[in-house]
Amino acid sequence: MENKELLRVEHLKKYFSTPAGSLHAVDDVTFTVKTGETLGIVGESGCGKSTLGRVILRLHEPTAGRVFFEGYNILQYNAGALKRLRRNMQIIFQDPFASLNPRMTVSETISEALVIQKLYSPRDKKGLRKRSLELMEMVGLAERLVNTYPHELDGGRRQRIGIARVLALNPKLIVCDEPVSALDVSIQAQILNLMQDLQDELGFTYLFITHDLSVVKHLSDDILVMYLGQMVEKAPTARLFKNPLHPYTRALLSAIPVPDPDFDTNRTILSGELTSPIEPAPGCRFAKRCPQAQERCLGTDIPFREVAEDHFVACGEI
Ligand SMILES: Nc1ncnc2c1ncn2[C@@H]1O[C@H](COP(=O)(O)OP(=O)(O)OP(=O)(O)O)[C@@H](O)[C@H]1O
Ligand SMILES: [Mg+2]
Repeated sequence: MENKELLRVEHLKKYFSTPAGSLHAVDDVTFTVKTGETLGIVGESGCGKSTLGRVILRLHEPTAGRVFFEGYNILQYNAGALKRLRRNMQIIFQDPFASLNPRMTVSETISEALVIQKLYSPRDKKGLRKRSLELMEMVGLAERLVNTYPHELDGGRRQRIGIARVLALNPKLIVCDEPVSALDVSIQAQILNLMQDLQDELGFTYLFITHDLSVVKHLSDDILVMYLGQMVEKAPTARLFKNPLHPYTRALLSAIPVPDPDFDTNRTILSGELTSPIEPAPGCRFAKRCPQAQERCLGTDIPFREVAEDHFVACGEI
């Protein structure tokens, strides 16, 4: 059975006013994600990944564009409708420590999420404890940790609490904003496996934001590569890894470390001036760093077009 579209983002823009001018953090982003699928959103620091996630969750108001969740334009929702929507759209952050209250134990932290969303009464201590323990088990936290505090736990376990809090609400869409970037590589794999298992079991849809393509390789159905607020390439994951078309995507792929030191990866080191996101000129924003740039890449915007089935790219050279 064909999965249903859960999220549709159309021509989304978020510009910030700064003293130097309008900063184009997200500039005309369009994509759809089907229920139960994962879209990886990849690009280097400052390319607008977090801003995009926040605008989709309406933690920031967009400058222009539309966001449809289950077919409804959520930008038209009033405060009451937004509050109900929040249960269905949740976010997991990079640093769970920053979002956890240091004075609350694991079970108190999870219980708080259940109470805030009115899933349980604060007086229902027995029910809260039972559900908290269930959620702890789902995220692989041992029962003995129920009364521990965040500072007593390692980064991986803290991220598991963050995931349990989100699971408590049983959302449909989870925006994961660099959820494993602060963790050791071995722990990263455990958390990624957990997220994959939870998706298989509970049918979550993920927007998985990361600067590291290797992190989303096994988790994503599709990958969207962003550069300075714009989409530069989008394709099903296997196709993107096999046949990357945009020179920026190729550079990102070449930066993934290969376990065999004798293997020649032809790593592309990007040089050249970084284009400013403030009032950027028309044309490809990567052109100044691009090894293949031609004169035609500057001056007019490069269309984001489908060059093969489900494979889109914005490059003046293709
Ligand atoms: N509140 C704000 N006011 C002004 N500019 C902002 C604001 N938030 C983000 N920006 C700018 O918007 C651009 C995109 O930032 P964003 O945090 O979305 O990037 P990112 O891809 O998530 O980066 P990172 O990988 O470092 O998390 C950056 O140039 C940033 O400086
Ligand atoms: Mg970010």
